[in-house]
Amino acid sequence: MSGFQSDKGMQPNLKEGVLALLENGKGQDISGSEMAERLHVSRNAIWKAIKQLKEEGYQIEAATNRGYCLHSDNNIVSAQGIYKYLTVDIPGIEVHKTTVSTNTILREKAEENSPEGTVVIAEEQTGGRGRMGRVFFSPAETGLYMSILLRPQLAVSEALNITTCAAVAVAEAIEMNTGIEAQIKWVNDIYCGNKKVCGILTEASFDMENMGINYAILGIGINVFQPRNAFPDEIRDVADALLNKEDNHEDFRNRLAAQVLNRFMKYYDNINDRKLLEEYKRRSLLLGREINILSKEGTQKATALDIDEQFRLKVLMQDGTTKFLSSGEVSVRSVT
Ligand code: BTN
Repeated sequence: MSGFQSDKGMQPNLKEGVLALLENGKGQDISGSEMAERLHVSRNAIWKAIKQLKEEGYQIEAATNRGYCLHSDNNIVSAQGIYKYLTVDIPGIEVHKTTVSTNTILREKAEENSPEGTVVIAEEQTGGRGRMGRVFFSPAETGLYMSILLRPQLAVSEALNITTCAAVAVAEAIEMNTGIEAQIKWVNDIYCGNKKVCGILTEASFDMENMGINYAILGIGINVFQPRNAFPDEIRDVADALLNKEDNHEDFRNRLAAQVLNRFMKYYDNINDRKLLEEYKRRSLLLGREINILSKEGTQKATALDIDEQFRLKVLMQDGTTKFLSSGEVSVRSVT
């Protein structure tokens, strides 16, 4: 028999089952006895699950003779909430209240043979990782911190394509949900109005014998709501969030997560399609602009000319030579 057979010490799946029923009928009442029947448990077990969901912050209303109803202005990220908006096949989504880094959790899952497309999300990261060994500021309940496990048939030299698929997907999902124009700052930052709202970090395990990729962990961090205590001093001038208020944005993070996954999988399935490069270039923040190339040796001035098929940035140096950058840090130069 399938379902949930005990109401003593509630099973974790039961809470998820109740949440799925409430999510699917969002805004409409569903009685305790109907849920009990559908999930093969007692009404008391349903009541306990509802109580726990409320303690976690879900706004669930109970009306006599009508049943339970989930408020549509919940702003909690949940697997059930994301699945509702998905149009692609995702084998599993795990949502954590807090964790050190979603990339770390997913790496463990990758080693345990979890399937491609497995997703891990956190409401908060205490050790969110950014590029170049930096920390990615990941405060509670304001962002979307998400990692996706991939097992691509790509050569090592093509690993960068994963990040570029993600950059285009995130930019599109942001625009669809907010109407705000999103641009890509080579190679993998998303900017809205000249400030960074999203960072992407792809970590891969390489198969050196075959020069291929065993698996890749694609980590995406989006600043959705302004952090309660503002951004830290070090990033205050460059970082921003998509929205100002935490309320009145119904299901925003669930929708955004689903749309990032929907868009990303579309590009990922056609990863070598030229359309990806065209979309990437169309959204480029840098092309045609004066930039600084930052390296250990110092800063060099250049003009960003183009992005080639390997997603390298073609730049014109001040001495008249051209260079192709395949990684590194650049910033837009304000020309006075
Ligand atoms: C950067 O801007 O330097 C990249 C930031 C990537 C942050 C995301 S959040 C989800 C995933 N888990 C991490 O620890 N990092 C990535």
